[in-house]
Amino acid sequence: MQKREHFGGRAAVIMAMAGSAIGLGNIWRFPYMAGQYGGAAFILIYILCSFVLSLPIFLSEGLIGRRTHSNAIGAMKTLAPKSIWTALGYLSVITPTVIVSYYSIVGGWAVEYFVKSFSLSFGDFIPEGWTVLAYGTVFLGISCLIVALGVKSGIEKFSKFSIPLLFVLIVVILAYSLTMPGSEKGVEYLLKPDFSKLSGKTFAFALGQSFYSLSLGMGIIITYSSYISKDENLIVSGAGTAVADLLFAILAGFAIIPAVFSAGIEPSSGPGLIFQTLPFVFGRMGEAHAWIGVVISALFFLTVTVAAMTSSVSLIEVGVAYLIEEKHLKRGWACLIVFLSVWVLGLVSVFSGKAFGLIDAFSSNFLLTVGALLAVLFVGWKMKKEDVLEEITNGGKVNSRIAPALYFLIRYIAPIAVLTIFISNFIL
Ligand code: PHE
Repeated sequence: MQKREHFGGRAAVIMAMAGSAIGLGNIWRFPYMAGQYGGAAFILIYILCSFVLSLPIFLSEGLIGRRTHSNAIGAMKTLAPKSIWTALGYLSVITPTVIVSYYSIVGGWAVEYFVKSFSLSFGDFIPEGWTVLAYGTVFLGISCLIVALGVKSGIEKFSKFSIPLLFVLIVVILAYSLTMPGSEKGVEYLLKPDFSKLSGKTFAFALGQSFYSLSLGMGIIITYSSYISKDENLIVSGAGTAVADLLFAILAGFAIIPAVFSAGIEPSSGPGLIFQTLPFVFGRMGEAHAWIGVVISALFFLTVTVAAMTSSVSLIEVGVAYLIEEKHLKRGWACLIVFLSVWVLGLVSVFSGKAFGLIDAFSSNFLLTVGALLAVLFVGWKMKKEDVLEEITNGGKVNSRIAPALYFLIRYIAPIAVLTIFISNFIL
């Protein structure tokens, strides 16, 4: 048995997990959703979903990883040998590998736009072609190099540096954004509570978003938790990650939306917001003083690049951990194989916008939900209750009072909620 690395302490665990959680979802989806689906009312529902439903799912995946100290496939083979549940392991390795193939393309766009910020010459947004391939390759290559450095010297170090940096960057952008004339309309858009917008659909969106944002359902929490030591408190790690993720999403909202309103345009979501609407806004900022547009734009695309990279690192580590432990490869070779497979898979998305959209929708709406559902069903119904409680409470040492409530959520409430999003993805 080879010696496994562990994250060095609670801060390291939360930084790495937050690195995975904070990503494009916080920047290009949350702010728009909050504005469109009821402002403060939506944010309230979102917070509720994060702690009542996503946290139990996080814990389910977390305890699978920490109990076995194994990669996602190895973990399922240990807990449920030769059973159908090992499918959860395979799915947990396939999903992130598929996702990173288009995630790194978006990362590549962010690098390209960072470079273009210095001349504020964004041109038309054409997300195809060789330039995209080149920048995407750089982005994926750097992410793989970080993973190749190891759990402690790569992922942990990078996250400990990046997460504080991301918060500083977004606060600087926010501070500027709020001084712009007309920005109050953006604040109002984000916050004005509109309870009439709350419906079953809003709830499904909030839950789906909280899911994606916490990187659930794709083996990441299983893998990262396998690097958590036995005396670390899983509930604290999960709650800490959820708080950091939520805080960043809200800050990103106040950094982006008021600036968009100030330029007199309507906010949108997805790639259009980051790569079309905002470049226009930065151009407008630069009309009075070019350097302001340059600085804010460069800081913003740096934020997007770093946020996307801490997430892509987590996606890559899932496959790498599998290759190291199940196929006995050296970390460097494992990273190279993942790099090449993802690169080839990414070609499809680079050259076909349609494939890009399909892969995104299929993995975020389908694969991820199935992964999360299987994880809660496994922990809630297949594992022994004592084992689950022992894992959540570190053998009775921590939080034993809320543990039964969490178990109840895992066993009954979370599966119903996940099933609801799953079905609503098809009908909404
Ligand atoms: N949680 C990330 C975000 O909010 C997205 C992500 C999905 C990261 C899947 C890793 C894996 O953007």
